[in-house]
Amino acid sequence: TQLRRYRIASVPGDGIGPEVIAAGLEVLEVLAARNGTFVLDVDHYDWSSERYRKTGAFMPDNALSLLKEADAIYFGAVGAPDVPDHITLWGLRLPICQRLDQYANIRPTRIFPGVKSPLRGVEEGDLDWLIVRENSEGEYSGHGGRAHVGLPEEVATETSIFTRSGVERIMRFAFGEARKRPRKLLTVVTKSNAQRHGLVLWDEIAAEVAKDFPDVTWDKELVDAMTFRMVAKPKSIDTVVATNLHADILSDLAAALAGSLGIAPTGNIDPERRFPSMFEPIHGSAFDITGKGIANPVGSFWTASLMLEHLGETVAAKILISAVEQVCAAGILTPDLGGRATTADVTRAVCEALRGSN
Ligand code: NAI
Ligand code: MG
Repeated sequence: TQLRRYRIASVPGDGIGPEVIAAGLEVLEVLAARNGTFVLDVDHYDWSSERYRKTGAFMPDNALSLLKEADAIYFGAVGAPDVPDHITLWGLRLPICQRLDQYANIRPTRIFPGVKSPLRGVEEGDLDWLIVRENSEGEYSGHGGRAHVGLPEEVATETSIFTRSGVERIMRFAFGEARKRPRKLLTVVTKSNAQRHGLVLWDEIAAEVAKDFPDVTWDKELVDAMTFRMVAKPKSIDTVVATNLHADILSDLAAALAGSLGIAPTGNIDPERRFPSMFEPIHGSAFDITGKGIANPVGSFWTASLMLEHLGETVAAKILISAVEQVCAAGILTPDLGGRATTADVTRAVCEALRGSN
């Protein structure tokens, strides 16, 4: 049989990014060797705040064309204490998401074995969500400006942009994702009572698109009520779609309710596959623990699994996630999860679980 080859662009970034991405690449290599059906060719890019300090730019001029050569991008985190976060974000992550038109951000969340939800009585299986975030426009389109800077009459605008094509494509994607999951249940989140232009458009388009997905059950929720429902009735939720800003906030709440920032992944997806999609753990560069060897690599492993799924390696993706679950269930956990294992311990245990599984 023909060996399938994938080209992965690795962008570890700052802080613990390089630590967890190195761990992820190690695990991926063991997985590929074990399966024997695919190989990953990895291109390493040192785009980071370090590079910004040295050269004035996070990425080289030809960064986007380099990335376009890849089948997927495996990203760590960016952010440094001495570089303002809006410079970092607009210098690296957002240009990649926008220029590769990764308009759908997905964030699976569930309670992992060995992990405790802060919600009383909520166990593994009670919280299993997929949040779909519009990733190309809305509140983060970068539209706006400042005038009379520093003067008493200073004014700043931050305009949300909602286009029919932008909303329709994310809605179709979200209904499609909901359809792939067993419960086929989608909650459309807006704030269309207060935001009465753009988000009323969301509601209208949701109702239109729903007609093409008669097998998907859907409901609507205002974003404030949604925070309440996530805490009070987590079982009532399955797939969720929301705007760039709303889903950004809801997905951090989701991560907290699932018990840790260190385990969850996210994918920035171009569903049409014109460009590579980018996969990253949801956590940031965590300077407080950088270099200590205790960063939780589980987020990076789950990210790798999500990336494999996107590449069509669904069997390998499942094998990887079961190996990680097995290790967590065995109590081999980093300090953020209440354990005493190091990044290297967890990585070694997952590699061993992979070698031992069949
Ligand atoms: P953070 O996610 O880096 O850290 C928050 C807390 O969670 C810290 O106490 C950290 O030690 C802990 N934590 C995070 N990931 C962990 C892991 N894998 N294992 C163990 N503990 C972990 O968020 P924070 O502190 O708000 O931001 C730090 C920097 O990261 C900022 O510059 C921020 O802009 C950037 N950031 C970047 C993101 C990205 O690249 N996508 C996402 C979030 C933040
Ligand atoms: Mg966020």
